[in-house]
Amino acid sequence: MAQRNDDWTATSWRTRPIAQGVTWSDEDHLARVESQLATKPPLVFAGEVRRLLEQLGAASEGKAFLLQAGDCAESFHEGSADAIRDKLKVILQMAVALTYAAGVPVIKVGRIAGQFAKPRSDATEERDGQTLEAFRGHIVNGDEFSAESRRPDPERLLGAYHQSVATLNLLRAFTTGGFAALSRVHVWNQEFVANSLEGKRYSMVADEIERALLFMKACGIDLHDDSALQGVDFYTSHEALILPYEQALTRRDSLSGDFYDCSAHMLWVGDRTRQLDGAHVEFLRGVANPIGLKVGPTMEVDELRRLVEVLNPVNTPGRLTLISRMGHERVNDRLTPLVEALRADGAHVLWTCDPMHGNTFLAQGGQKTRHFDDIMSETGQFFNLHQSLGTWPGGLHVELTGDNVTECLGGGSRLDEADLTSNYTTICDPRLNATQSLDMAFHVAEYLQAYLAANGTRSL
Ligand code: PEP
Ligand code: CO
Repeated sequence: MAQRNDDWTATSWRTRPIAQGVTWSDEDHLARVESQLATKPPLVFAGEVRRLLEQLGAASEGKAFLLQAGDCAESFHEGSADAIRDKLKVILQMAVALTYAAGVPVIKVGRIAGQFAKPRSDATEERDGQTLEAFRGHIVNGDEFSAESRRPDPERLLGAYHQSVATLNLLRAFTTGGFAALSRVHVWNQEFVANSLEGKRYSMVADEIERALLFMKACGIDLHDDSALQGVDFYTSHEALILPYEQALTRRDSLSGDFYDCSAHMLWVGDRTRQLDGAHVEFLRGVANPIGLKVGPTMEVDELRRLVEVLNPVNTPGRLTLISRMGHERVNDRLTPLVEALRADGAHVLWTCDPMHGNTFLAQGGQKTRHFDDIMSETGQFFNLHQSLGTWPGGLHVELTGDNVTECLGGGSRLDEADLTSNYTTICDPRLNATQSLDMAFHVAEYLQAYLAANGTRSL
């Protein structure tokens, strides 16, 4: 195994301090649910996970770009086929915009099929004089504000597993069953997106891709024979927050003898649970999946160095993705020393940018929101910083949905605060809608183009 395992076991996290720990209503009930989950089929397979690891390894060397995107929190009330399809559409559209402009392969990883748990800044929530346990994601409790709904219920772990199974089943059908074939590039443009400036720009790109496909066909290339044109690799990810769930879905791979957390291809540790001696880092260090680590503005150089050593002790490319989420006012002063230090160490890490979580604020009407300009400002600074240090700005981590929601301000749909009330449906953080997401992808495609032009263009 690429990891140094020493005293790690699938349960060794239980002896460590647990940040964001949940007080379950009934520990025996939790134990029964854990045993049930442990007998269920895995959601993903070790071979797929190794393939993603390899692709992320290429990305860490500047040969690919990671697009990690999806809901802040998936909802038990919203797992319809249409919603999943529309989310996939917008991710495919973004990937097309990025690949077409920059000529770089885009690795597509959803925050999906397991993204049900939320860390909270405040353990409780107060409304009209009543104080209740905070909403922690549907894998733990309900979002309705009542004592009954907010009670952490172990049965919800099974609910999360079953919804993940159904979601992944549909994703596999969509991504391999023809829907994601490049010849269907026009179909991914939803009607409400197609009427926007970004949608029209996408349409032009799609026309050119169709022309290129026709050209290839005329040259005698069999388009139906090429799996890369007929479908896409699509991977799943979520924050590994609820460790009883992650442990119960961890399996030993018979081929390699390594442990894989088979709840998703990639797992990440959040900014609130990344303590060096904490349970979350302990659990993730021992599974062979690619791991993400959120890197917020309080991260110090020494702390990051030690986390890299613990999570990627043998410096395997693709093993560790660092997801920077500094906020648009902190990128230069907080991120620069971290990137410089790891560059000096020769650490094989993939740096990506989450321009969402450092840029959240409350609108006048009380809704949590983000401004598209702040999001793009952080992203632009991330690219500039890597350009000046000669390191690879290897990916983008975003919260989005395929629906026409009004949760983030500005962008392609030019939403203002008054619009926030019209279609605000997230159960946690505000997401970019499909038009804003596409707008972002075109901007990032330009940043990538500029980066590549400044660092020597790619050849075939
Ligand atoms: C998230 O990605 O939804 C999240 C909570 O992020 P962070 O840990 O960076 O705050
Ligand atoms: Co979020």
